[in-house]
Amino acid sequence: MFEIKPLCESDYVFAVELANTMNWDMAVEDFIFMASLESGGCFLLCDDAKYVGIATCVSYGKVGWFGNLVVSEEYRNKGAGSALVNHAITHLHSKGVKTVGLYAYPHLLGFYGKLGFRIDSDFSVLHAPNLSRVRADALPKIGNAELSNIVRFDSCFFGGNRQKLLESIVLDELNTSRYVAENDKVLGYAAATVYKTAAWVGPLICRPQRGDIAIALVKSVLSELSTKSVYTVIPKKDKVLSSLFFEVGFREVFFVSRMFLGYSSAKDCIYLSESLERG
Ligand SMILES: CC(C)(COP(=O)(O)OP(=O)(O)OC[C@H]1O[C@@H](n2cnc3c(N)ncnc32)[C@H](O)[C@@H]1OP(=O)(O)O)[C@@H](O)C(=O)NCCC(=O)NCCS
Repeated sequence: MFEIKPLCESDYVFAVELANTMNWDMAVEDFIFMASLESGGCFLLCDDAKYVGIATCVSYGKVGWFGNLVVSEEYRNKGAGSALVNHAITHLHSKGVKTVGLYAYPHLLGFYGKLGFRIDSDFSVLHAPNLSRVRADALPKIGNAELSNIVRFDSCFFGGNRQKLLESIVLDELNTSRYVAENDKVLGYAAATVYKTAAWVGPLICRPQRGDIAIALVKSVLSELSTKSVYTVIPKKDKVLSSLFFEVGFREVFFVSRMFLGYSSAKDCIYLSESLERG
């Protein structure tokens, strides 16, 4: 008999082991981070005493994001995965979320489709295993003073309020973040989460006609990531940043489809995702 419980700290080792059967390279810190963003947003699915599945979600006001869904192989095709998705949707709706987003592997479009999600657009996961040196002009770093302006700008395009996520990334000294503004009007920003040997570039949001600024932002962030193993998630239809990423050594490792349950409030902009599990 399946039961879904909140994922507790003592379950994180199980969650990491299950997630890494998918080669997601996760660590206990990733679940600590998810739990810090969304209280009660990490789930554990049990069959009596046996742990068999996990999923996470995070709410950003009217928009929520779902991810990290894995069910142990021997328990698949019994309704466990659908139960986890529906449980997370109920949690997000209880937080006032109207639209739930996720990134789906191509073979799971039918699975999520049956649960009500509709395909929005495709995204490439790009990787540079050992980033070469990128030269760039220095751009201003996002500090406490600019944060509320950046959050407002981000919400206009993303459709939900990502304050808690942006704060955690931008105010962590180990990470990097840059922005461009003219007369107090934000034109674009970019951030990267930096680990010991790896980094994720994103989120990035830039006004649609300002490809010049998007390129300057990405170069500026990449210039601090030399020799790291760097990932980013970029819309397949992107015409501004992909050529830069390919020039400096990124290659597509796989692609996913962004899907929404509910109306998509994302506005046209130059965009890099923060991550697959948080949008
Ligand atoms: C994706 C995943 C979580 C689905 O979990 P699951 O427990 O197999 O999901 P469900 O059982 O609810 O649904 C799977 C299929 O079984 C069917 N099913 C559901 N209940 C069933 C039952 N009682 N008997 C038979 N089939 C059933 C569903 O209709 C669904 O069919 P579909 O593939 O045509 O959509 C699982 O395959 C998994 O862990 N994959 C690896 C991780 C992964 O890819 N995560 C997603 C990242 S985007």
